[in-house]
Amino acid sequence: MINFDKESQLYEKSLDVNYKKSNGVFYTDLNLAQLIMNEIEFKHPDVRVIDPCCGTGVFVKIAVDKGLNNVYGIDLDKTAISLAKKMCPSANLKSMDSISNDFNEIMKKFKIKEKFDYVIGNPPYVPLTSASLKTQEYLFLRQVKNYGDNLYIAALLRAKEMLNDDGIISYIIPKNFLHVDSYSFLRRELLRDFSIISIVDIGMYFKKVRGEQIVLTLQKKKNANNVIKLKKLINNKFEFLTEIRQDFYTDKIIIFENKEDVEIYRKFNKSYTTLNDYVNGYVGRGHSQSSNAICGKDIRKFGLKSLPQQEDGSQIFIQNIYSAEAGIIACFGGKLEANETVTIFTDGDSTMCRYVLGIIHSKLINFYLLKYCYNNSSVTMHVDAKYLRSIPFIVDNENFNIVLEYVDKLESLDYMSNEWFEYCNLLNRIVYRIYNLSEKEINFIDAFIKKTQSKKWDRNGK
Ligand SMILES: C[S@@+](CC[C@H](N)C(=O)[O-])C[C@H]1O[C@@H](n2cnc3c(N)ncnc32)[C@H](O)[C@@H]1O
Repeated sequence: MINFDKESQLYEKSLDVNYKKSNGVFYTDLNLAQLIMNEIEFKHPDVRVIDPCCGTGVFVKIAVDKGLNNVYGIDLDKTAISLAKKMCPSANLKSMDSISNDFNEIMKKFKIKEKFDYVIGNPPYVPLTSASLKTQEYLFLRQVKNYGDNLYIAALLRAKEMLNDDGIISYIIPKNFLHVDSYSFLRRELLRDFSIISIVDIGMYFKKVRGEQIVLTLQKKKNANNVIKLKKLINNKFEFLTEIRQDFYTDKIIIFENKEDVEIYRKFNKSYTTLNDYVNGYVGRGHSQSSNAICGKDIRKFGLKSLPQQEDGSQIFIQNIYSAEAGIIACFGGKLEANETVTIFTDGDSTMCRYVLGIIHSKLINFYLLKYCYNNSSVTMHVDAKYLRSIPFIVDNENFNIVLEYVDKLESLDYMSNEWFEYCNLLNRIVYRIYNLSEKEINFIDAFIKKTQSKKWDRNGK
């Protein structure tokens, strides 16, 4: 008996690294493909199923093993298709470019007339260059460009084309499809014209692929009352997290952990003003070319590593690279210059800057960024202006001076000393009070931060 995973892995390993990179070759193991296929309800054995970028055919094999009679697979790679044929002889397998060619060409190749009921698989993720798509279809090329300029976006558009009404697509795609601006057009189109059945967060599943992935399963059918199931891969199972009406989302799709998470998100977005409502200065990257310019690595929380505290000026410097383990790393930048590894926030004077500095270092704001801007991503992200501007922000008369007093301490005490951490904790508590969060909400945020932040930053618990 042929060992599918072993044969596939051997073949994948034999491929040239650059070839794999430029064609998005990373095969799904049998185990994950099985979990995905178990989620899909195949209506009867004669439904038409295709994986248009099937590699050695893991999804094809499972479909055949499930007793489905009309299973199709395509891949650009002839050798992968020969292997797939060897492992699943009863499937219809062809080698062709299923992304540059439209569905009419695919139908011709298989000599079939009907579209497909299920389009499944793991398409290639490759940023597009002008050479990647060999088609003259102006509108298709334009759409791909507008929708995110990546081969998997083109593959998703083709999947839509080859799908019957009421048909289902189930694709493994990068998780950042859910929240990054460049995918907004396609996201909104899918939210409008499709019913999203489920989204499964599978984390950083593929060792050699940067970023995290999700399994997105959707049906070509409008349903005003559709409810999306949110799930997560935990201990080799797709565990149910929560469900949410599709019309809750208009663009960005956040993967919520439970109902409480949804309520906090609602509160953040409805009850508070944002930093954008207050900003009257510049928010964006530094652009100094000077060799003395401050760079991201020069900054620590509430200070600069090798320069004294700045007195005057109206700038905050924020390390542009954001990691879940460390959270925001920012300091008062006074009148110094910074380069492009720093996000600069300028506003009013040093007093307001220091209030903002206190607020953005809090657990509450880090929770907001991580959860609702970066969708709980464990890869590093950027603290770009649009995220900063969106954070919930309150200037609270009653507690304004207290925040300033704590920031002053955090700037002057020994960095990361016990006393310094005590003030971090005091700051967190006052920020929770400013935002009027309940004990339950505070516990939820604290627990989340404890799970994600490195122990280094979580001394003394709450
Ligand atoms: C991420 S791999 C996944 C393969 C398989 N679906 C699996 O899950 O194991 C993507 C596959 O897409 C194929 N591919 C890349 N560009 C393609 C294209 N334009 N047309 C058809 N297949 C393509 C690659 O050869 C590779 O086998």
